[in-house]
Amino acid sequence: MVDVILGLQWGDEGKGKIVDFFAPNYDIVARFQGGPNAGHTLYVGDKKVVLHQIPSGIFHQNTVNIIGGGVVLDPITLKKECDLVASFGIDVKKNLFISERTNLILPTHRALDKASELQKGESKIGSTLKGIGPAYMDKTGRNALRVGDLLDKSFISQYIKLRLKHQKLLDNFHFIEDISTWEDEFFEALEFLRTLNVISSEYYINNEIAKGKKVLAEGAQGTMLDIDFGTFPFVTSSNTISAGVCTGLGVSPKQINEVIGVTKAYCTRVGSGPFPTELNNSVGEELRRIGNEFGATTGRPRRCGWIDLVALKYTCMINGVTKIVMTKADVLDSFEELNVCTAYGINGKETAEVPFQISKVDIDPVWKSFKGWHTNTSELKNVVALPTAMTEYVAFINDFVGASVHYISNGPGREQIITV
Ligand code: GDP
Ligand code: IMO
Ligand code: MG
Repeated sequence: MVDVILGLQWGDEGKGKIVDFFAPNYDIVARFQGGPNAGHTLYVGDKKVVLHQIPSGIFHQNTVNIIGGGVVLDPITLKKECDLVASFGIDVKKNLFISERTNLILPTHRALDKASELQKGESKIGSTLKGIGPAYMDKTGRNALRVGDLLDKSFISQYIKLRLKHQKLLDNFHFIEDISTWEDEFFEALEFLRTLNVISSEYYINNEIAKGKKVLAEGAQGTMLDIDFGTFPFVTSSNTISAGVCTGLGVSPKQINEVIGVTKAYCTRVGSGPFPTELNNSVGEELRRIGNEFGATTGRPRRCGWIDLVALKYTCMINGVTKIVMTKADVLDSFEELNVCTAYGINGKETAEVPFQISKVDIDPVWKSFKGWHTNTSELKNVVALPTAMTEYVAFINDFVGASVHYISNGPGREQIITV
């Protein structure tokens, strides 16, 4: 049986904390897509850790963590992260497994990402520049190198062939940066990768499921960044949705049990692209300040706005969400008034659907207002203690999206979560 935790907005919903919270209930935690993502934050005791490539269950000694075949892997990031995790006494050689089908991100993929964004200029995607897009292009273009290829004698010749192809593309972009330091680090990191457990993860996971073991699939990014159903072209290059679990891990749709969707109590986005409920005013600034909405790794300020229920209903539908976790509810504690978006006004007409043309049309959000709760909720432990205004806010969201909030996260700490 496989449960899934994924983001319902534009990423950074707090998935890392939630996966870490649920991980003790599972035998396996597996990443199924994405690359060295913007960063999943969790706390080990009072120490903050930001993970990019390793699943967020790694700090639980009895949980096996798997990087699945649907992921694109940067060996350099992985090595650094393994060192970080090892400094907490975790033995990655014991409880981290990597699928042989996982595609490798090469230094030239990072260079291509940078070159492509530079060429786009004003219309850039705001990529994390980790080489994720170009690595997935080589996967679908059937050129990629995979972790299992490391055992093959022809690895170096395949690498040189691909590098030459990339060099031609870089020349077309007039990209002239020297990437030899990245390459040195890459080859050093490959030697480290060879020492880790590389497995056929589809057999491993399915055999464990057959024995009755429980798997938690951890999504990166968010549904509105999905390559097919997100705000294209301002998206990432993988399927971030629940369907991605099947292709990314090699499990059948019949094995998917709970789909736990994570949403903030408001909304953020980092990078370019449409964001209908964005607040370019002092309220947006307050959300950023109180919510500390700055990139987990880059420190990039996140764009902030009210919760978008049109998008949330859509993302619950696409994923088949069975339970919602609402994070950062405490960030709204001091607001006088809260708004939720219940429809989009486009060219004078209202719609409750996310339009295909979302990146090209002007959207006037239709708002419904709620009174704030003016209570410090971050210390609360129990649903009965929640202020009425908060339960009314949540009840409206449940009714609107047709799925229910089962957990409210009221702070970044492991223990700050209330079962509703
Ligand atoms: P992820 O990418 O979805 O894992 O999310 P990030 O780690 O990028 O961003 C979420 C941020 O919010 C991190 O700094 C978390 O420590 C923090 N966070 C998570 N849940 C809560 C919460 O309920 N309240 C508050 N105040 N912060 C939270
Ligand atoms: P986590 O897993 C928020 C955004 C980037 C950019 C677009 C494409 O921490 O929630 P890419 O690097 O794939 O070329 O970026 O997607 N983006 C994220 N935004 N959280 C993330 O990850 C993100 N990963 C990518 O800012 O707009
Ligand atoms: Mg993040």
